[in-house]
Amino acid sequence: MQVTVFCVILLTVLSHYTLGDELTNRAKNRGKGSMWWGVAKAGEPNNLSPLSPGTFYSGSSVHTTLRKKQKRIARENPGLLDAISKGANIAIQECQHQFRNEWWNCTTKQFLRGKNLFGKIVDRGCRETAFIYAITSAAVTHAIARACSDGAIETCNCESHYKNRPQVIGNGNSVGAVRDFEWGGCSDNIGFGFAVSREFVDTGERGKSLREKMNLHNNEAGRWHVQSQMKKECKCHGMSGSCTVKTCWMRLPPFRVIGDLLKDRFDGASHITSSNSGIHNSNKAHSNRLPKHSKSNSLMTNSIHAKRENRRKHKYGFQLKPLNPEHKPPGSKDLVYYEMSPGFCEKNPKLGIPGTYGRQCNETSIGVDGCAIMCCGRGSIPQEVIVKGRCNCTFHWCCEVKCDICKTKKIIHTCA
Ligand SMILES: *[C@@H]1O[C@H](CO)[C@@H](O)[C@H](O)[C@H]1NC(C)=O
Ligand SMILES: *[C@@H]1O[C@H](CO)[C@@H](O)[C@H](O)[C@H]1NC(C)=O
Ligand SMILES: *[C@@H]1O[C@H](CO)[C@@H](O)[C@H](O)[C@H]1NC(C)=O
Repeated sequence: MQVTVFCVILLTVLSHYTLGDELTNRAKNRGKGSMWWGVAKAGEPNNLSPLSPGTFYSGSSVHTTLRKKQKRIARENPGLLDAISKGANIAIQECQHQFRNEWWNCTTKQFLRGKNLFGKIVDRGCRETAFIYAITSAAVTHAIARACSDGAIETCNCESHYKNRPQVIGNGNSVGAVRDFEWGGCSDNIGFGFAVSREFVDTGERGKSLREKMNLHNNEAGRWHVQSQMKKECKCHGMSGSCTVKTCWMRLPPFRVIGDLLKDRFDGASHITSSNSGIHNSNKAHSNRLPKHSKSNSLMTNSIHAKRENRRKHKYGFQLKPLNPEHKPPGSKDLVYYEMSPGFCEKNPKLGIPGTYGRQCNETSIGVDGCAIMCCGRGSIPQEVIVKGRCNCTFHWCCEVKCDICKTKKIIHTCA
């Protein structure tokens, strides 16, 4: 273990030594497309303009990190920016939950002032960056789709197109099976969420360089994961639950479901390469289509619609190439990266990595959360802490549970 850790560190040091200039160049280009992540911090005082406290829509420093097009979209869809801000916060929470036991734990910057929310790690085209792009894009898609059905955005509503589907559904052999339910209720508007996420989240990515293609691909992967998790929910009506009439609608699961799926994709992420990555392959690439009726939202019902649709095909119609030619090319739900992750064990100011010093670890676990691995061979320090908790709970008729607050001693371990 120690030997490999040492090698990783050595490699990191070496690559920094030789790539120093390139890194600073990259840093300039790379963060730009993702500055919008800053809307997550919209409510925090230090990120607000001192001139107009409380008004983040007009003058705050957070708002100035949005691009022109993003501001226009926000202006044209009242309520949207709130949903996006909520989505960005859910993405942070979910990322930190998924990585709570890993070397890299998805830390975010407290105060932004033009800095990238997730820090300098996103300067690198590595797995962690891939996950950040996918989860933020997914969370925004999820939040918008839900906000529509909650009535929180003025320009969208419950998705209604299911109601227009034919009553008879043919499925291969048994042609003409009659659907035994009615579409009704309020479906989450994944069409709107998907389309607006593309417009808003992907604005900065033009898809020319490998890095931009990587970002676009991972943003799309996040959205496809959300879209594919739409599930039918039904309710029965009729005399004493006889279910003579069944009404159904489509609903998104809690975001944790999508977080779990994306973490799996992180573990099996696809290492891509740039050689010939410019080849357009409209047959294979993203055979998935935008959810039906996503066109019928306010963003795209304009005269230049056809032109845009063309450009869109171009923008997303690329196939990335795996580094190892024997591997399958990445699919639309795979996360992709092209640079190795840096070592996260030791401090690395150039990449904003704090190292695992002071991280809590589990003395008995043999996984990454165990002290042996988490502390990278530096050992851990036991510490007695007093934990307050509820105890001695008793039930009182009726209906109350009374508990004492107890202090218990507990040993925790933190990395040296
Ligand atoms: C991540 O780890 C750092 C120490 O490396 C710690 O200060 C921070 O609180 C952790 N963040 C989260 C979200 O757990
Ligand atoms: C520590 O790891 C052990 C073994 O994997 C596990 O049973 C235990 O629940 C863990 N403790 C905590 C506090 O996570
Ligand atoms: C629990 O309740 C019993 C009886 O009331 C009391 O003697 C005991 O000290 C309590 N335990 C704690 C940990 O508070």
